[in-house]
Amino acid sequence: MEDLYLNRLISIALTWELLSLLNGSESSADPVCPLQLSADRMVIKYEDPVSVLCSTTTSAETLYWTIDSQKINDNTWSVNRLLKWDISPYCNATFPGIGSCRKPLHITVYKTPDNMSISLLNHSGPMVEGTEYRLQCDIQNVAPLQNLVVKWYKGNEFLLNVTYSNSTKTPVDVSPTLIITPSRDDDGAQYRCEAELVLGPEGPQPPPTVSSKYQIYVEIRPQHQPTPGSRNIVQPTAKPKGHNDLLELNPPSVVVKYGDPVSVNCSTSCTDCEGMGWEVTQGGTAFQLNATIVTWFVDNLEDWTIKPMCYITTSTNQVTKTLPVILYKTPDKMSISLLDHSGPMVEGTEYRLQCDIQNVAPVQNLTVKWYKGNESLLNVTYSNSTKTPVDVSPTLTITPRSDDDGAQYRCEAELDLGPEGPQRPPTVSSEPLNVTVYYKPHINASQLPKRIPVFQGYPEELVCEAKGNPKPRIQWFYDPTKLVRDAGGNLTVYEAGLYNCTATNNVETSFVVVEVILKEDYLPLIAGFVAIMVVVISVIFIFIYSIYYKNTKMGRYSLKDAKLSSTPNGNVAQNGGRNIPLPMTRLSQPNIIF
Ligand SMILES: *[C@@H]1O[C@H](CO)[C@@H](O)[C@H](O)[C@H]1NC(C)=O
Ligand SMILES: *[C@@H]1O[C@H](CO)[C@@H](O)[C@H](O)[C@H]1NC(C)=O
Ligand SMILES: *[C@@H]1O[C@H](CO)[C@@H](O)[C@H](O)[C@H]1NC(C)=O
Ligand SMILES: *[C@@H]1O[C@H](CO)[C@@H](O)[C@H](O)[C@H]1NC(C)=O
Ligand SMILES: *[C@@H]1O[C@H](CO)[C@@H](O)[C@H](O)[C@H]1NC(C)=O
Ligand SMILES: *[C@@H]1O[C@H](CO)[C@@H](O)[C@H](O)[C@H]1NC(C)=O
Ligand SMILES: *[C@@H]1O[C@H](CO)[C@@H](O)[C@H](O)[C@H]1NC(C)=O
Ligand SMILES: *[C@@H]1O[C@H](CO)[C@@H](O)[C@H](O)[C@H]1NC(C)=O
Ligand SMILES: *[C@@H]1O[C@H](CO)[C@@H](O)[C@H](O)[C@H]1NC(C)=O
Ligand SMILES: *[C@@H]1O[C@H](CO)[C@@H](O)[C@H](O)[C@H]1NC(C)=O
Ligand SMILES: *[C@@H]1O[C@H](CO)[C@@H](O)[C@H](O)[C@H]1NC(C)=O
Ligand SMILES: *[C@@H]1O[C@H](CO)[C@@H](O)[C@H](O)[C@H]1NC(C)=O
Repeated sequence: MEDLYLNRLISIALTWELLSLLNGSESSADPVCPLQLSADRMVIKYEDPVSVLCSTTTSAETLYWTIDSQKINDNTWSVNRLLKWDISPYCNATFPGIGSCRKPLHITVYKTPDNMSISLLNHSGPMVEGTEYRLQCDIQNVAPLQNLVVKWYKGNEFLLNVTYSNSTKTPVDVSPTLIITPSRDDDGAQYRCEAELVLGPEGPQPPPTVSSKYQIYVEIRPQHQPTPGSRNIVQPTAKPKGHNDLLELNPPSVVVKYGDPVSVNCSTSCTDCEGMGWEVTQGGTAFQLNATIVTWFVDNLEDWTIKPMCYITTSTNQVTKTLPVILYKTPDKMSISLLDHSGPMVEGTEYRLQCDIQNVAPVQNLTVKWYKGNESLLNVTYSNSTKTPVDVSPTLTITPRSDDDGAQYRCEAELDLGPEGPQRPPTVSSEPLNVTVYYKPHINASQLPKRIPVFQGYPEELVCEAKGNPKPRIQWFYDPTKLVRDAGGNLTVYEAGLYNCTATNNVETSFVVVEVILKEDYLPLIAGFVAIMVVVISVIFIFIYSIYYKNTKMGRYSLKDAKLSSTPNGNVAQNGGRNIPLPMTRLSQPNIIF
């Protein structure tokens, strides 16, 4: 007994110790947690597959993975494409008598930069010796930032390491810069920035690296830059033939939504030209010596009258090309209203609807479409060539009919911007305008004949029904002004005369007159007819009977032969000697009396 108790105590104490060891110890170095991962640390490229096995030396009650609070009841965690940046997988298990513990998997998700480029800040064209310039290396979409080392080189000469302490795990863009002060010996030198992801021994070897190059030119003479306006722009007539082909715009024209970015390249095939540039109010470039391509770029285009012009300077003159720009803007607000009228419309009357469209450009590409329900009624276009946004208020004249009651009118503004514009023309629609149409009562004449005969004592019902908006009030007048029925279309008539059904609403009063004629009462006639019929039937009956009577006489029917006393059957007459009983009906009795 004592041994057993002691054993239990020891066992409880051990379990307690184990548990307290397990609690608060989540490090992979924890020697107590009897879990083993096929890899404790992993470096995975974003979108690559992952597979990790969690195993145990002792038998576990349960064993599962938890990945960011998602539970996977399997000893292997595997995904075909890892699509998370910040992920903390744990293998978790419960052991009998010990409790549960878990082991973390340290995972680094990386991504090499999409794009890298070096640019010279706040300057274009050749550099001037002894002047300070700043090169910027734009690195797009790299992760994780804390593993990134950006190295700057000039030729093969290492210049600088740039590292980041930011612990963000999702991809970021970074733009480290390098300050240089070129000397005349640096003309033609190549600068390079390299983005290296240092991912440790578990990562790919050698570490993934992306780089970008930039060649600089250093001028010894002071920089030549024509000031805008001082250039003598050649007249098209004076332009040497074919020179316009010197410049090519890509794309050749643009359709831009107000506030959107735009970028157009101007390139040349000219090899012996001095240089080129863009002259424009927004996003222009300086004159660039020996350049063969210059880019006009604007982050958000907001100049309605912009006229970007690319120019190239040859040894003798200058050639320009203007970029056609359509800057457009969909309406801020659209509304539809009824002019000079309020409340319901009346059928057959003319009304004007107005569509107010605010702040739309360019108006020459605008089509205003009027609709009734889904039916297209009218398309309005404008020839005004204003480039800036305008307000327009086209109108539509309508003459509603009774079946237009409840119709919805609406206007739509559509900008048709051609093939360079958005695939679907931008469209804005007004709220629908619900119209109510009042119309005069229409009396259903098919139920009301012009003349109607009535027999004395047999009343007839006249049914007067009318459709109208608002719902008409129906009244019956008799001969000709006596009101006989107020509100209600059914009238029972007894008397002859003119009955006038009137249907009245706000719009009009309609009426139908019915003439009621009193017809002869046919009852005496019918009585006479019945009497005649009785007589005729009686005559026919007597005739039939008389034929029957003759027949019985020829059968020598004689009362004298009947043995009235001796025959028990007093009603049976002897028919000759043949003893055939002859039934005597009541009808034959008068014959006995005669
Ligand atoms: C995993 O194990 C720990 C102990 O290490 C426990 O507290 C936890 O409840 C277990 N389950 C999950 C889903 O983390
Ligand atoms: C790389 O940069 C160029 C120019 O800056 C841009 O046109 C292109 O879309 C970029 N590519 C990616 C994958 O970001
Ligand atoms: C570049 O020029 C802009 C103004 O033109 C100025 O705000 C910016 O600080 C300059 N950047 C550098 C790196 O000189
Ligand atoms: C730059 O970083 C690399 C690691 O990628 C290292 O080998 C090198 O020594 C560093 N150079 C300097 C000057 O810090
Ligand atoms: C880390 O970098 C991101 C993106 O560059 C930035 O938004 C964030 O503020 C930075 N965090 C720290 C702690 O520097
Ligand atoms: C521009 O081209 C001319 C003629 O080819 C050449 O003499 C000059 O050095 C070039 N300038 C630069 C900065 O490359
Ligand atoms: C208005 O233009 C559309 C095409 O955009 C056409 O389908 C419709 O028939 C036109 N409507 C009228 C009334 O001309
Ligand atoms: C064009 O529209 C503007 C503004 O609505 C107006 O002032 C101008 O007179 C119009 N021009 C023509 C030719 O219709
Ligand atoms: C848009 O307007 C421009 C300028 O008036 C015109 O040349 C072009 O044909 C219009 N596009 C369409 C699709 O109507
Ligand atoms: C117009 O009619 C529709 C349905 O017939 C209704 O849903 C809508 O609320 C009405 N609008 C107004 C302004 O009365
Ligand atoms: C009027 O008469 C018609 C046809 O007999 C009947 O359908 C209708 O219900 C009647 N209306 C009333 C209000 O009695
Ligand atoms: C029928 O009644 C209406 C309304 O009272 C009246 O205007 C019309 O003249 C009447 N018609 C006849 C034929 O009396």
